[in-house]
Amino acid sequence: MSEPVILGIESTCDETAAAVVRGKTLLSNVVASSMDEHARYGGVIPEIASRAHAESFVPVVSQALADAHMELSDVDAIAVSAGPGLAGCLAVGVSGAKSLAYAANKPIYGINHVIGHVAVTQLQFGQVPANTLALIVSGGHTSVLRVNNIATDVSVVGTTLDDAAGECFDKVARLLGFPYPGGPHIDRHARQGNPHALRVPQGLTQGKAAAEHPYDFSFSGVKTAVARWIESETAQGHAINVDDVCAALADSVATVLSKKTMAAAAHLDSQTVIVGGGFSANSQLRTALIKAGQEHGVEVRVPELRLCTDNGAMVAMLGSNLVEAGVKPSRPDFSIDSSMS
Ligand code: KG4
Ligand code: ZN
Repeated sequence: MSEPVILGIESTCDETAAAVVRGKTLLSNVVASSMDEHARYGGVIPEIASRAHAESFVPVVSQALADAHMELSDVDAIAVSAGPGLAGCLAVGVSGAKSLAYAANKPIYGINHVIGHVAVTQLQFGQVPANTLALIVSGGHTSVLRVNNIATDVSVVGTTLDDAAGECFDKVARLLGFPYPGGPHIDRHARQGNPHALRVPQGLTQGKAAAEHPYDFSFSGVKTAVARWIESETAQGHAINVDDVCAALADSVATVLSKKTMAAAAHLDSQTVIVGGGFSANSQLRTALIKAGQEHGVEVRVPELRLCTDNGAMVAMLGSNLVEAGVKPSRPDFSIDSSMS
């Protein structure tokens, strides 16, 4: 077969997205976000997000096909994120994709969204080498994956035991009065602050917990620690320097993420580390990973920002990998899995 044409569809959270690839060439990439509708509630409201997917699904898919100068009949297979994500959101995307596959008699692949974040980096860096380590960080996930073969051999090396990195930033941002999503505000303020002004805990880095969870993370204590510090400083009549709080938080989170990722790379003898997910926009994390990569002699692939956030290209690229590897399509009755590992 000539290079397969794949339509990728994404609806795990607040982005309705679709893209078309031919082989590993991106032909179109359309994203509609409902973020503005969630901002005034301080977080993603699943009901609102699901409704937005239902409204945007057909226009977004039609636009992606039109931009690629294609009709549905020109597509060889459809790929759709089947998890992890918000159940109601996944249900809209998967039902829509199944309807298209049924109507046009096309094979369909229900894919893992987190692995999609790794797959999309092929657009910028080419093939994912065997035994690559991937750090996928967003508002919803924080995972270290060993990617031996992107289509057939991916395993979890570490994960967060509680909050995701982005979620932790968003919680502290709320405490500091920044609008949702607060991560980018923290990033900006952190650049002007002193990271040593206060101590922000680095979960699972000391004692028995660190030995039992060498590549796992815990961020749930961070917000409480920052809240207590602010309380205590205020009680003593000290003014709060927001830049310093942001700098200490960003330094702590970037350090623990990069240290544990590099430790896992050394342990597994991985020569390449890939980073992805919305939180990989964070400049402190990017800097820490690039520096750690230079120290350890590991190639660190930090993709351009538009590839980091949720999009259809990540789904289409992973679909392309699955078709190329001869992986069988999903059964027509495959189900969504909101906590897919
Ligand atoms: O992948 P994404 O767009 O959505 C999902 O969570 O799936 O990631 C959004 C998350 C939010 O928590 C946001 O605050 C965080 O990524 N984020 C950042 C930055 N840009 C986005 N956090 C820190 N620094 C940034 N520059
Ligand atoms: Zn994502």
